[in-house]
Amino acid sequence: MSKLLDEMNALAAEISVCRECMLHLTRDKAVPGEGNVRTKILFIGEGPGANENATGRPFVGQAGNFLNQLIGIAQLKRQEVFITNVVKCRPPSNRDPLPEELSACAKYLNRQIELINPLIIVTLGRFSMARYFPLQRISAIHGQGQWINDRLIIPMFHPAAALHQPSLRSAIEHDFALIPGYLEQAKERFEPKPAPEEKPAAAEAAAPAPQEPESGEASQLSLF
Ligand code: URA
Repeated sequence: MSKLLDEMNALAAEISVCRECMLHLTRDKAVPGEGNVRTKILFIGEGPGANENATGRPFVGQAGNFLNQLIGIAQLKRQEVFITNVVKCRPPSNRDPLPEELSACAKYLNRQIELINPLIIVTLGRFSMARYFPLQRISAIHGQGQWINDRLIIPMFHPAAALHQPSLRSAIEHDFALIPGYLEQAKERFEPKPAPEEKPAAAEAAAPAPQEPESGEASQLSLF
């Protein structure tokens, strides 16, 4: 097993026995997140619902089925991406996570982001959006990717909200269809094409040696 996978598994084990906020008292299973740890796209939802609490897996209920469809619209497969939440344990009756729950759980999400080192983060709903755009309204900025510290952050409506509201549903489908273009844009930023007038041989001779990424497995130079 790779070092990255070992570290992600160790973190998931830590999350599964966490007692740092009151949510541990009512959970059945913590939901650390799942997917490809070498992905360049991380999806961050809000918190587990009833199905996720029962299975320990993120987005496995109705909203999860819709998210799978949306990932298909983005020309991706669920197993190619990583999916997690801002809080890893279910808030009772699916209430909003409280500020103290969000801050107790933030260290786990921060560590996941650090380990996965994604090029693109798709936030699902207002709680994950608020990490990056605390003063914005989702209705104003959904689908609009912004570079923050070398990551492209794309705020999206939450799939559960969009599922039952036709206007949000068509907006979220439209926004997910933008993801392949954002991926191209991100690739372009980290693998710029040589300018047309450049002669490849001369460019090669002049090019500095490629920088080794800090972790080979978390390189931002290859997508998947
Ligand atoms: N909604 C979320 O935000 N996360 C899940 O894992 C499931 C539903």
